[in-house]
Amino acid sequence: MNRHTAPLYDRLVRHVQEDHAGFHVPGHKSGAGLDPRGMAFLQAVMAIDLTEITGLDDLHHPETVILEAQELAADCFGAEETSFLVGGSTSGNMALILATCGRDDILIVQRNSHKSILNAIALAGAKAVFLSPEWDDEAGLAAGVRLEDVRSALERYPGAKAVMLTNPNYYGMADDLSPYADLVHQYGKPLLVDEAHGAHLGFHPNLPPSALSSGADGVVQSTHKMLTAMTMGAMLHMQGPYLNRSAVRRCLSAIQSSSPSYPIMASLDLARLQMHQEGQAFLEKGLDQVNRFRAAVAQMAGFRVLSHSQGSAFDYLDPFKISISEASGKVTGYQLQELLESYGCMVEMADPSYALLHFSIATTETATERLIASLKQIEAELPRFKQENDGFSPNISSILRFDAVSPPVSLPAFAYAASLDVGCQSIPLEDAEGKTAAETIIPYPPGIPVVYAGEQISRDAVAYLSTLSRAGARFQGAADSRLQNVRVTVS
Ligand SMILES: Cc1ncc(COP(=O)(O)O)c(C=O)c1O
Repeated sequence: MNRHTAPLYDRLVRHVQEDHAGFHVPGHKSGAGLDPRGMAFLQAVMAIDLTEITGLDDLHHPETVILEAQELAADCFGAEETSFLVGGSTSGNMALILATCGRDDILIVQRNSHKSILNAIALAGAKAVFLSPEWDDEAGLAAGVRLEDVRSALERYPGAKAVMLTNPNYYGMADDLSPYADLVHQYGKPLLVDEAHGAHLGFHPNLPPSALSSGADGVVQSTHKMLTAMTMGAMLHMQGPYLNRSAVRRCLSAIQSSSPSYPIMASLDLARLQMHQEGQAFLEKGLDQVNRFRAAVAQMAGFRVLSHSQGSAFDYLDPFKISISEASGKVTGYQLQELLESYGCMVEMADPSYALLHFSIATTETATERLIASLKQIEAELPRFKQENDGFSPNISSILRFDAVSPPVSLPAFAYAASLDVGCQSIPLEDAEGKTAAETIIPYPPGIPVVYAGEQISRDAVAYLSTLSRAGARFQGAADSRLQNVRVTVS
């Protein structure tokens, strides 16, 4: 195994350099058929947009260059086995769950999970035992789940098939997962981790440990989020005896396209190469920009950035994620996002309190300086803002209280089917208390479901969602993306 090569990418380049006449898909024939408007940006990448022809291997039965690239990835990230994903962490989360849970099986899972996890539970016909996340008062945000809650869920539901946690969360809050892995293994079950935001973890001493190094059995990472793969490029890593790996492989094959994108897979190979060769040095360069930015903001009275302290509900904060808020609370995160974007600085997401800034190994000094200069300008504009956020409190999310460990919840598959349109009606959100939701309501960002289809809508949920809606949030899953109206079942 030669960690200084990128076997899949190198093979594609060789193929392009060889003289072939291609009588196979895709129809653009290495970019020759591309509309001229696309030439500037798409032509080069289309040259390697190939398919499972002789010599280029097959993601669904890897034997040569894809197998080699995946083995190198397993070595790099510390897994026994790695599969490339061309459908993002979404596809990896779904494969792990479908491979682990059948109809009526229980999955212990944190409530603030990505929708891919909830969708997979619904498709499997399984049941979720939801763990309520710990609340971080200082941040005004949900963090991870308590170890005691995982233990009591395992005691209460010994037949559960697995525990699935999300670590780190979107804001970069992370926990030490080792005790969680030990606990779940004591019960003879696999610990699955949605590490979509943590492909870079473990490669630098200033970063939290990775889920694999903490003992997790199945780990999904969006290599495109925190490292340098193309969008949708992700990896599923496996280790240990608790996971049925051949079932996971079968589910991956069922979920992913039979024509997986070679540019995406090649970009995974190259992202791995970077980490394998010079991971720490690359991350160090990114951290220089993070430190430059943090030092500059510390000099500005108008803004605060989220940090980790003794009393935090989380063990680590990923330095590459910077949650910035206006210090007095009179400017929402959404407004801060608008202000930054008016200066050409596009942010990762905003919520009622924060604008979330994403740094990476590719963040340049020029971009960081532009961000700092923009914030200085915005700071000078702050006096024109009045406390106009009617009823808004930065800690609004704390009004959502759930059971520490829920009873098993079925997530109805009707949410996907045409039957959704029958027996449902759209009513104003304010009138929805006590009604059964006919749609899963996911404020986006950050993409965490607040109400599941089939669930009764609580008073707290109405208050929370109304506040988000007034503050300008958008909602996925809901027919009305501004959530003035919500779909409920007619009883
Ligand atoms: C926690 C979490 N898990 C999974 C996903 C899905 O990742 P992908 O976009 O790579 O499919 C996301 C996306 O934002 C996420 O935030």
